[in-house]
Amino acid sequence: MPGSNAPESPYLVIDLARVRDNFDALRSALSGLGESHPARIRYAVKASPMPEIIRLLAARGAEFDVASIGEIDQCLGLGVDPATLCYGNPIKKSAHIAAAYAAGVRRFAFDTESDLERIAAAAPGSEVECRFLASAPQSQTPFGTKFGCAPGEAVLLLVRARDLGLRVAGPYFHVGSQQLDPAAWRIGIEQAGAVVEALAVKDIPVASVNIGGGLPISYVDAAPGLSELGAVIADAAARHLPEHTDLVVEPGRALVGNAGVIHAEVVNVRQAPDGRRWIYLDIGRYNGMAETENEYIAYRIVTDRDDDSRAEAVIAGPTCDGDDVLYQRTRVLLPTTLRAGDPVRILDTGAYTASYSSVSFNGFPPLTVRVIGAERE
Ligand SMILES: Cc1ncc(COP(=O)(O)O)c(C=O)c1O
Repeated sequence: MPGSNAPESPYLVIDLARVRDNFDALRSALSGLGESHPARIRYAVKASPMPEIIRLLAARGAEFDVASIGEIDQCLGLGVDPATLCYGNPIKKSAHIAAAYAAGVRRFAFDTESDLERIAAAAPGSEVECRFLASAPQSQTPFGTKFGCAPGEAVLLLVRARDLGLRVAGPYFHVGSQQLDPAAWRIGIEQAGAVVEALAVKDIPVASVNIGGGLPISYVDAAPGLSELGAVIADAAARHLPEHTDLVVEPGRALVGNAGVIHAEVVNVRQAPDGRRWIYLDIGRYNGMAETENEYIAYRIVTDRDDDSRAEAVIAGPTCDGDDVLYQRTRVLLPTTLRAGDPVRILDTGAYTASYSSVSFNGFPPLTVRVIGAERE
C-alpha cells in the first residue's frame, strides 16, 4: 500500500516482486519442454514499458517483443542488448525497419510478402518469423483477422525469405490476448508443426516456433493456471515439433497484469432517470481502463465499504465522452453506501493500462505509475 505521500488519485502501483514471481513461475511452468524444445520468454513491452520492469526482466534473461521504434529506443536506452529484441509488429514502415536495423535489431516478424521484401531490403540477413492466423478459439480481447497469413502461405513466405537471403526463424502465431482455452495453443502448435514439416521438405530448417502471448490471468472470471497451460504446450510441442526447435513464448499480460493495482476515487453517484445507479470514477476508458472497451475485461473493484449491502451499478469514467463508460452490461455489484470521495481499488491492472492512457483527453493527465519493490533480489 502506498504511504501518505501517495500521488493524487488515480494512480497505478506496480509491485516488481510480483513481476519477478510471474517470470519465474512461467519459466518453471515451461520446464516440461526440457532440452528438446528450449523455452525462451520474450516480454511484450506494450503491456507495460516501465523501465524498472524492462531492467528486471532483462536481468532475468528475457527477450523483448517491441512494436515500434519508440519501444526499441526505450529498451536500448535502458541498456538492453539489441540482439534480444524482436520487432514483432507486422505493420511497419520501411524507414522504421531501417532504423531498427541501424540500432542493431536483427529479428523481425511479418505476415505479408510486401513487408518481407521491405525487411530484406532494409534489414539484410536478419532473422524472420512468419505470423500465421491459427484456427484457435476466440480470446477475451481478440485480434480478429487483423494479423496473420494462412498457414500454407507461411510456408511459401518463409521459402521466399530464404531466397531473399534472410535467416528463417520459423512460424509464429498469437491466439489472442486473455485466451482462456488452453486448447488454443495445442491447435496453434499443431498448425505450426505442419509448417515446419513442409519447410523441412524444402531443406529449410526451423530454429524456433513462436507461440505468442495470450496467456491469461484471473480477473472476475478465473483463468487456467500457468502449470496447466505449460503442460498443454509441452505435450503439443513433443507431438508436433521436431526436437531442438526453440519454443518462444511472448507474454505481456501474464507477466505484469496481477502486479498492478489502480487506486482511484468515486467522483459522484447518480440515480439516473432510467432508475439505474451510476458511479463515476476519476479513472475511465481514456486514462487507463482501455481494456473495458466492449466490456472485454471485467476487473475486480474493491472498496472500504465492501461489508455493506451491495447493488448493481453502471461504472463510468470522468470525461464528457459518452463512450467513457466502463461497465453497463456487465453485472457489477458495489456497496449501496458508496459516495463521492470514497477510494476504490481496481485489481490486476498492471497490463495495458498506463501504456494505453491518453496524454490529455478532456485535460485529464495520463495515469501516474508508482513502482514498488527492488529490481534485484
Ligand atoms: C505481437 C504481440 N506479441 C505478444 C503480445 C502479448 O500478448 P498478451 O499480453 O496477451 O500476452 C501482443 C499483444 O498484443 C502482441 O501484439
